Amino acid sequence: MKNVQSVYQKNYGFEDAPSVGSVKPSNRNESIFLWQKNHFEISTDKNRLDVNFIHQFLTQSHWATGIDRDTVESSLDNSVCFGLYRKNRQIGFARIITDYATFSWFCDVFITPEYRGVGLGTWLIQCCLEYPIMKKMRRIMLVTTFAPWLYSKAGFEPLNRQDYIWHIYRAPTPTEASAKALH
Ligand SMILES: CC(C)(COP(=O)(O)OP(=O)(O)OC[C@H]1O[C@@H](n2cnc3c(N)ncnc32)[C@H](O)[C@@H]1OP(=O)(O)O)[C@@H](O)C(=O)NCCC(=O)NCCS
Repeated sequence: MKNVQSVYQKNYGFEDAPSVGSVKPSNRNESIFLWQKNHFEISTDKNRLDVNFIHQFLTQSHWATGIDRDTVESSLDNSVCFGLYRKNRQIGFARIITDYATFSWFCDVFITPEYRGVGLGTWLIQCCLEYPIMKKMRRIMLVTTFAPWLYSKAGFEPLNRQDYIWHIYRAPTPTEASAKALH
C-alpha cells in the first residue's frame, strides 16, 4: 500500500509478552505490526497504548459517553488494538473485535482534534485493513453516523436494507456508571 511500510513484525507468545499498565497481552500468538509515515506511527503493540488518553476520549465521545475505565481496559484486552502515535505520544486509536477467521467489527475509531483533517484517519483505517487477518475476513462491519465519508473511501458500503441487521443495545445507565465508581 502506498506510503505504508510494515517495518517489523515480532512474535509474542503469552509467556514472553511484556505487560505494562493494566492492559494484558493477548493469550494468542499475535504478531505486532508497525507502520510508519513521516513522524507518525501506527502500532498494534498493546503495551504502548495510553489507556488514560483512550479512556478520556471515549468517556466524552458521543458513542461511549460516561464509559468507565474498567470497561475500556477490558475492551482493549480483548480486541486487536491500533494506536496512532506522534513521537511516542498517542494521538489516535482504533480497535477490531474479531473471531480471527471470518468476522470483524471496527469500533472506537478516533483522532485527537488537533491532528484531524490531515489524512491520519484514512491512514489508520488503511492500516487496520492491511492487518493480515483482515484480508481473509468474510465480513467486516461497523456502525457510524458521524463519519460515513471515512469508511466509504476505504471500501465499506452502507447496509441499509430493511429488517436486515438486528441488535440488542444496552446503553449504560447513569446509575450503573456511578455504582461502578463506588467500588
Ligand atoms: C472521523 C475521524 C477519525 C477522521 O479522521 P481524520 O484524520 O480527520 O480524517 P482524514 O483527514 O483522513 O479525512 C478523510 C477524508 O474525509 C474528508 N473529511 C474530513 N472531515 C470530513 C467531514 N466532516 N465531512 C466530509 N468529509 C470529511 C477529508 O477531507 C478527507 O478526504 P480527502 O482524503 O479526499 O481529502 C476524526 O474526524 C475523528 O476522530 N472524529 C471524532 C471521532 C469520530 O467521530 N469517530 C468516528 C466514529 S465512527
